[in-house]
Amino acid sequence: MRMHSLAAAAATALALTSPAFAQDGGQLNVICSVQAEWCNMIQTVFAKTTGIKVNMSLKGSGEALAQLIAEKANPKTDVWFGGTGDPHLQAAEQGLSMEYKSPSLPQLHAWAQQQAQQSAYKTVGIYSGPLGFGYNTELLAKKKLKAPQTWADLLNPALKGEIQVANPASSGTAYTMVATLVQLMGEEKAFDYMKALHKNISQYTRSGTGPIKAAARGETTVSISFVHDGPGEKMQGFPIETITPSDGTGAEIGSMSIMKGARNLDNAKKFYEWALTGAAQEMGAAAKQFQLPSNKSAKVDPRVPDFKKIKFINYDYAKYGASAERRRLISRWEKEVNSLPR
Ligand code: G6P
Repeated sequence: MRMHSLAAAAATALALTSPAFAQDGGQLNVICSVQAEWCNMIQTVFAKTTGIKVNMSLKGSGEALAQLIAEKANPKTDVWFGGTGDPHLQAAEQGLSMEYKSPSLPQLHAWAQQQAQQSAYKTVGIYSGPLGFGYNTELLAKKKLKAPQTWADLLNPALKGEIQVANPASSGTAYTMVATLVQLMGEEKAFDYMKALHKNISQYTRSGTGPIKAAARGETTVSISFVHDGPGEKMQGFPIETITPSDGTGAEIGSMSIMKGARNLDNAKKFYEWALTGAAQEMGAAAKQFQLPSNKSAKVDPRVPDFKKIKFINYDYAKYGASAERRRLISRWEKEVNSLPR
């Protein structure tokens, strides 16, 4: 009997990890807009748990949206996991994502449920994280500079060519910055500010995490980044710290959507429900990513930024997630900021 059950357990374990079993569970096509380590962990654990093979493609939030628009007539993606919430809201508005009201919604924080309600249940919040600055402590000390405390501090001429931020057309992180500044300062002042900041920017990267990785590695002194991307770099031994501006900042509502026309709809729903569980959300921290999980039961790692200590603006997610507004602000940024000489 004992031998029999052991053999059965071994067979089950083998089956769960073998490609043959994975075929039986079918497939799932996921665009993943968090960092690679978390995407890879999700892919492996979900496949082992369910036998569903996950075909994962990694793309920044803006790039993911562009791909989903391009494949609208012939959708290839089942689920879009992660990335900032604004482009998820835009996907909802454009009819790219499907209405799905998860029975797990009451287990989520209010901000995550609000993201679902605002999109008529076409997307949902899976994590949140504040925007701020990353800085290389060694480079700052060498330049005898103090850590920037406010948005205005980034205009210091001593930081010329020493700041990186991503490009808002490809990166949700950078779009969150544009929308945050517009809400904090008013649109005209925000664009004046970004034009002045442009002189200190060495490059606008494609991906939102490029700048903090560059700051960690001493390739730039300061980055404009989600502060939850700092601890993972620090854990690798880099001299990087983060701070949120004392005059106010915005936060993302990292989101997840099921795509309309998903070919593997049952598997997409299985994945969606799994990704909303506290246990699955704790995998973020296990993969060295420290956003605040949306499921209230998920353990919050001590390295997750303490929201109570941060001065937040009252970010209008519906307004800045609307297609026309996002397109307008990005094209204004291209014309008036990115095209300027330095
Ligand atoms: C990182 C952050 C996420 C964020 C994502 C946006 O992965 O950890 O919280 O949602 O960047 O990426 P993007 O390249 O669109 O700025």
